[in-house]
Amino acid sequence: MEITQLSPNIGANIDGIDLGKPLSPEIIQNIKEAWDEHLVIRFRNQSINDDDLLRFSKYFGELDPPGPNPYGITFLPEYPEINVISNVKAADGTPMGNLGDGEAVWHADMTYIEKPPEAGILHALEIPVGQGHTYFANMIKAYDALPNELKEAIEGKILIHDAAHNSAGMLRKGYSEVTDPRDTPGARHPLVWTNQNGRKALFLGRRPHAYILGLPLSESELLLDKLWSHATNSAWTWFNEWQVGDVLMWQNLLVLHRRDAFDGSIRRVMHRTQLKSLAA
Ligand code: SIN
Repeated sequence: MEITQLSPNIGANIDGIDLGKPLSPEIIQNIKEAWDEHLVIRFRNQSINDDDLLRFSKYFGELDPPGPNPYGITFLPEYPEINVISNVKAADGTPMGNLGDGEAVWHADMTYIEKPPEAGILHALEIPVGQGHTYFANMIKAYDALPNELKEAIEGKILIHDAAHNSAGMLRKGYSEVTDPRDTPGARHPLVWTNQNGRKALFLGRRPHAYILGLPLSESELLLDKLWSHATNSAWTWFNEWQVGDVLMWQNLLVLHRRDAFDGSIRRVMHRTQLKSLAA
């Protein structure tokens, strides 16, 4: 197993492992350690099926089923634990996956619920070459580098995380449009997240419709704009230019991710699992 850092502050590539086969406890432990250090791990040229993806995912924690999508569809009824991220539509126009072909804005997955998943794992099956890159930002580094006055401004503060929209801005089934962020439906979480290892991370979820409890709306908006501009600084971000056979895993509560828009006439198909909590 060969680990290569992908950027100075986030991401590592692991070569020499076939995820289509069961992995030994030693290898799993080595991957966990690399994951804790780099927060995003990429495996390239994997030839795996959905059973392999599930087996691999379960080495690292308990599976968490996909959240609600705008269409109210279970995309893979035979694999309900797997979400499909895709722009492909069936002959009758029914979407066969989530998020379409537009930009998915910076976000962490499902932070609008009380106990958001701790990790996401994405397997690239079909991709538009050179388009639809996915970016990751290290929120531990972002927190560490926050100017003191911003650290003080967010100390003890709670943020509302929007449950009504997905990261492509589409309204989820059963929700109505939000006009005032103070009324945004969704979970409330501290702006500073402390993980099992005592590491502190900036915990922003997603920008649209967010609100910091207790602040006048204009102050909340201003502070959030400052935090977001800092959080997405290129010093602690990296992007993956996808290849078919890539498998990427990220620590959802410690990183943000976003995806570029791409040409909707080209198929992009990803299968994704997520983990409720990470195994010790
Ligand atoms: C996501 O936000 O989970 C999707 C990322 C992607 O489509 O690359």
